Amino acid sequence: MARDFLSLSDAGGDMVAAMINDAIDRKAARRSWPKARPDADAPLAGHVLAMIFEKNSTRTRVSFDMAMRQLGGSALILESGTTQLGRGETVADTARVLSRMVDAIMIRTDDHAKIEELAHYADVPVINGLTDLSHPCQIVADLLTVVEHGFALPGLQLAWLGDGNNVANSLIEAAGLMKFSIRIGGPAGYEPDAGFIERARAAGGEVILTQDPVEAAAGAQIVVTDTWVSMGQAGGEQHVAAMGPYQVNAALMAAAAPGARFLHCLPAHRGEEVTDEVIDGVQSVVWDEAENRIHAQKSILLWALGRL
Ligand code: CP
Ligand code: NVA
Repeated sequence: MARDFLSLSDAGGDMVAAMINDAIDRKAARRSWPKARPDADAPLAGHVLAMIFEKNSTRTRVSFDMAMRQLGGSALILESGTTQLGRGETVADTARVLSRMVDAIMIRTDDHAKIEELAHYADVPVINGLTDLSHPCQIVADLLTVVEHGFALPGLQLAWLGDGNNVANSLIEAAGLMKFSIRIGGPAGYEPDAGFIERARAAGGEVILTQDPVEAAAGAQIVVTDTWVSMGQAGGEQHVAAMGPYQVNAALMAAAAPGARFLHCLPAHRGEEVTDEVIDGVQSVVWDEAENRIHAQKSILLWALGRL
C-alpha cells in the first residue's frame, strides 16, 4: 500500500495520534541501544528510501537515514544538483524511474506543486521533507515532543512568534486536526497561509492572529518560533526589521504559562528569533525535538508503507 504524506491531513488526526504513540513505544523499546541497530521487528527490512534534496538539510537528512536503518532498511541521498532532475529531466519521469528502483521517496523542494506532481506520477509513497508551503514531518516530531513533556494535545495553548512560514502552516494544520489553540504573533504582511487557517478553524482548531507578541505568548504552554527568513525567501532589511519585536527572549517567555516549554525546529539564528538564554534555558526542549525527528520519521514511513 502506497500512501503519500504531503500534509498532516493525508494521515488525519487519529493517525497522527497513532504515529505519536507508535513513536513513543519504539523509542522506549530501543533506549540506550546503538543508534543504527535495527528495531527487534525490523519492519522495513529490505526497503530503500530515496531522499531528494533541492534545499539544504541536516536534521531531515540524518533523521530519515537513521529512521530507515532502525526500521531495518536503508536510504540513499540524491542531491538534485548532481542528478538529471537538476539538468531538466522532468519530475514525472523522475517519479516513474524512482518508483521502479526504490520503495519510497522523500523530497525537500521549493514549489509545493512539484511534490504534488511527483506524488501523482510515483507508484511509491512520496513524503514531504519540506516545501515552501509546509513541513508536516517536523510537526509530527514537535507534537511527539509536546506529548512526551506531559501536555495533552486537545485544548493545548500554543504560541507561534515571527514569520508565518511553512512550519507555521503545518502547525496550524495540526491545531485543526488535534483540536488545539494556536496564537500567531507576527507582523502584518507575514501571516501564515490563509487556506491553512481557514481549514484549521473549520476542523475545530482555534487560530488567533495578533500583531502583539505579548498577547500571542500570554498563558501559552508551548512557545514556538523559527527563522525569520526561510530558505528560498528573499528576506531583506525590511523583512528582518519587521520581525524584531517577535524575538523569543526571557521577557517574552515570562508572559507564557509557568512551566511553558520552548520549541524551535532548528537551525536557530541565535540573537535573532531566539536568544541564547531561552534556547539554552531550562524551558527549551529543542534537543529532544531534534532527536524526535528520527522517531517521528519512523512512524511516518511505517504509515506511508501501510505498516501502521
Ligand atoms: N528542522 C529541519 O527540517 O532541519 P533541517 O533543515 O536541518 O533538515
Ligand atoms: N522555515 C525554515 C525551516 C527550516 C527547517 C525554512 O524553510 O528554511
